[in-house]
Amino acid sequence: MFLEKMLQSQGFGSRKHCQQLIKNGAVEINQTVVDSPKYKLDIDQLCFSVHGTTHQYREKVYIALNKPQNYECSHQATHHFSVFDFFDDILMNRGIQCVGRLDQDTTGLILLTDDGQFLQALTHPKKHVPKVYKMQTADPITDEQLLQLEQGVELRNENGVFAATQVVRLTEYELQMAIHQGVYHQVKRMLAAVGNKVEKLHRAQIGQLRLDHLAEGEWIYLSAEQVLAAKNLIEQELSII
Ligand code: URA
Repeated sequence: MFLEKMLQSQGFGSRKHCQQLIKNGAVEINQTVVDSPKYKLDIDQLCFSVHGTTHQYREKVYIALNKPQNYECSHQATHHFSVFDFFDDILMNRGIQCVGRLDQDTTGLILLTDDGQFLQALTHPKKHVPKVYKMQTADPITDEQLLQLEQGVELRNENGVFAATQVVRLTEYELQMAIHQGVYHQVKRMLAAVGNKVEKLHRAQIGQLRLDHLAEGEWIYLSAEQVLAAKNLIEQELSII
């Protein structure tokens, strides 16, 4: 791949801007300045630096963010901050998007990517990717409510029944629940449907992916193994549709 094209693909701006960076001597490969935009590169395991900062070549990016409260999963946040505030221009230029959404007051694991196929597959309404939520409720959680959540509830303006695949009462007011659909405000609506109310909501897990070690607002690139595990999840789920 030509150096100018590689830089552009990694979010360093227009082809023209990348050419300029290269001609200005800002780009190094193996600690050597390369000032020819048409320099041919092997992108396998490639590391390069721009203005002295080292970057790893990534064909696509897969990011896990521990979302704090008061952040919206939209580019034009209206009343709160945007989760995109956590990312620099280079990543924003790549066009990263949230994989699904969390409400502004929900904390926890959200994935972002510039891989359109991955995003579409994981957010497809027929997909059943398991997600684990922990919540605090307004009222004590009763045995009857646990049973109803397991057996499934109906939600207004939605077809079908929405059941939790795993429901664990952690304390009188704390519940852990796994769901595999993803309709609008699903967890809050399910709790409302059984006569309780979610006071605090946290997504702890998507598939096998957890974020226990990340502080709020911190993010990581998923490892190749984690990306593969997420893709396998899509494959498995597609095969049962
Ligand atoms: N369910 C909700 O009600 N809100 C979220 O943010 C995620 C799932």
